[in-house]
Amino acid sequence: MIVAGVMSGTSADGINVALVRMTPGGRGRPFHTLLAHEEFSYPAWVRRMILRMMNAESARVADLARLNFLLGELYAEAVGKTVRKHRAQLDLVGCHGQTLYHQGSAAPFLGRKLAVTWQTGEGAVMAARLGVPVVSDFRPADMAVGGKGAPLVPFLDYVLYRDPHIGRIAQNIGGIANLTAIPAGAKPRQVIAFDTGPGNMVIDAVTEKLFGKAYDRDGVIAASGQVLEPVITQLLRSRYFQRKPPKTAGREEFGHAYARAFLHRCGRADKRDVVATATALTTRTIADAVRRLVIRKQGKYQELIVSGGGAQNPTLMAMLRNVIGPLGITLRFSDEFGVPTEAKEAVAFALLAYETWHRRPSNVPSATGAKRAAILGKVSYA
Ligand SMILES: Nc1ncnc2c1ncn2[C@@H]1O[C@H](COP(=O)(O)OP(=O)(O)O)[C@@H](O)[C@H]1O
Ligand SMILES: [Mg+2]
Repeated sequence: MIVAGVMSGTSADGINVALVRMTPGGRGRPFHTLLAHEEFSYPAWVRRMILRMMNAESARVADLARLNFLLGELYAEAVGKTVRKHRAQLDLVGCHGQTLYHQGSAAPFLGRKLAVTWQTGEGAVMAARLGVPVVSDFRPADMAVGGKGAPLVPFLDYVLYRDPHIGRIAQNIGGIANLTAIPAGAKPRQVIAFDTGPGNMVIDAVTEKLFGKAYDRDGVIAASGQVLEPVITQLLRSRYFQRKPPKTAGREEFGHAYARAFLHRCGRADKRDVVATATALTTRTIADAVRRLVIRKQGKYQELIVSGGGAQNPTLMAMLRNVIGPLGITLRFSDEFGVPTEAKEAVAFALLAYETWHRRPSNVPSATGAKRAAILGKVSYA
């Protein structure tokens, strides 16, 4: 069966499509082979609209409805192009959608306590355009059984990285950075996963504000600056980093308001130092989380395997290597395990869709905090 996984993360940079051949494997675990991966940037005006719709003050309900259908069209086009280019015979699609709002922990609302999430991008449109069933909207089923609805990628991380002798941490660095820790010889219930904090989101925001560029390409600006250590020390004390997992984050925690406060803390520092500090914030919060929330709890880990757009930033990677080295951990890349760094999350949603299609659960309750396993997503039939 050939499944397309479609991912569009909180960076709102565009659409990643992975074409994956799935075959039933041993002991109920399917095998996957990556056939192709393609990236499609959102046009600038679509990106602007998405960012506006993530902001409660500027979102209008009619535009939200329109965006849902527009993204359905754009996702279908991205999958269609990928399938034609690689001459594949598509059977199924798994589409994460664009997160507009995510609040993983229950909070009071009209007399109830609710945890809520919202991903947009209409599955019915994709199914109609592509002529195959589409699984979308994966997160609510986990939240309905008490989970935080995230992270969902640990299901793939476990398949890819579990090893009888090596403790591994899968570290994705998208807009947000999240890790999956898989101890040597782990059972699925021993997997820990959570969002460590900002990935590229704060770097992107300050680079945009100070240099008018969407991101710090190849980490050139950060490499030319000095890290403002007092700022890092202060920020590490904040509540999110201190909290125990499970925990999830998004633009609600590390978006506009956070970037503004970050800039304020940096004061009159050199602009390059500010970008260097934002870059260091990502790696220091990762190392801090690994040390306090993973190693202290579970002991030894040998490898940290990076994926996501942050892997393309050499300054970020150099800083990361420097902070995990003293913990006895080696930096590796998901490419070494057959999954290109930019493709991993898209591959994950192909795998999750395949599981759902076979009516199998695919949340990892120890990662999301769910009370039980759940079959994820909604199916739109062609
Ligand atoms: N060549 C590069 N140099 C520096 N940063 C990069 C590069 N390529 C990608 N990135 C970073 O990766 C981000 C996108 O990462 P991605 O994994 O797609 O995140 P998300 O899942 O949130 O969409 C960009 O916003 C940018 O910050
Ligand atoms: Mg992206």
